[in-house]
Amino acid sequence: MPLKIIGTGSALPELVVTNKKLEQMMDTTDEWIRSRTGIRQRHIAVKETTTSMAAAAAGRAMKEAGVEPSEIDLIIVGTVSGDKHFPSTACEIQRELLMVNAVAFDVNAACAGFLFGLTIADAYFQSGRAKTALIVGAETLSKMVDWKDRGTCVLFGDGAGAAVVRKEETGILHMVQGSDGGRGEALTCENRPVNTPFTRESFARGELQNEISYLKMDGQAVFRFAVRTVPQAILQVLKEAKISPDEVKYFVLHQANIRIIEAVAKKIGQPMEKFPTNLQKCGNISAASVPILLDHVNKDGKLQRGDKIVLAGFGAGLTWGAAVLTW
Ligand code: ACO
Repeated sequence: MPLKIIGTGSALPELVVTNKKLEQMMDTTDEWIRSRTGIRQRHIAVKETTTSMAAAAAGRAMKEAGVEPSEIDLIIVGTVSGDKHFPSTACEIQRELLMVNAVAFDVNAACAGFLFGLTIADAYFQSGRAKTALIVGAETLSKMVDWKDRGTCVLFGDGAGAAVVRKEETGILHMVQGSDGGRGEALTCENRPVNTPFTRESFARGELQNEISYLKMDGQAVFRFAVRTVPQAILQVLKEAKISPDEVKYFVLHQANIRIIEAVAKKIGQPMEKFPTNLQKCGNISAASVPILLDHVNKDGKLQRGDKIVLAGFGAGLTWGAAVLTW
């Protein structure tokens, strides 16, 4: 596949909210959250927005790649929590960072958004439509969760991660992706309801309706999906690329839950040391999880050119994707 990651970047909000802080706000405990999920704290946006974090992460990735904004010809942002219905977050950061020669759009594949972005970029590269792309995952999930629902609000955080990818001979070796809308009810967030004079008498009477819907999750159904589908996707991508799991240095997985990551490691017979994590500090940041973790691993100096890495994302839809690449 003619696609190589040449720079990464990430951005997290300033405010850190620990489990101890949540204990003071709701009926929960640090022990419950840590033992069920591994999460100890998360970053929550106060003055940051999905666009501002996406732009900051993208700027850092371009700097590391040594790429000028005008060289970017494709911008894909994976997000379910853009600041506006439109323009897209991709168009917002295009304006902010002056990437004037790019085609820009968002992708809604929830926590698999970054992997879906990479796959689309590959198709653009293969068809000769683009040469240098910016793939971003950016989320402000704190505004999507019901802060009165302790079963979900403790799980998520905010942030953005980005990668600049270029059309080159080597790099991403193979990718797989999948969707199963039939099981989509496991994780949902409704849009605004139809509310017009034709559907609502209250609207016709001039009474404003403000019905906000929050993220809803059947945690155990999501857990079952993840521990079954993610190992299958990883083993499939490796088999089709003719690479053994033992050759892989790191498995960079979506950071939903440490128990999911442990189950995946066990199923593919690989040690936990090969699974870097940052969910302890960041929580689950949906589409931003994979690119933020990739940037953290990269910035920590843990990657050498030639290393084999697997990326995997999975989430609402249901959707999933996995990629194997040579760094
Ligand atoms: N603090 C204390 N108690 C809580 C909390 C909390 N924050 N949240 C729920 N509880 C209680 C429940 O009320 C329930 O109490 P009850 O037995 O008296 O009714 C009890 O804890 C068990 O609740 P469950 O929801 O059954 O807890 P479970 O063991 O399934 O753990 C969890 C929940 C952690 C979400 C688990 O299902 C899981 O790991 N699911 C995976 C899904 C996931 O990680 N989703 C992230 C988003 S999706 C994605 O990124 C792919």
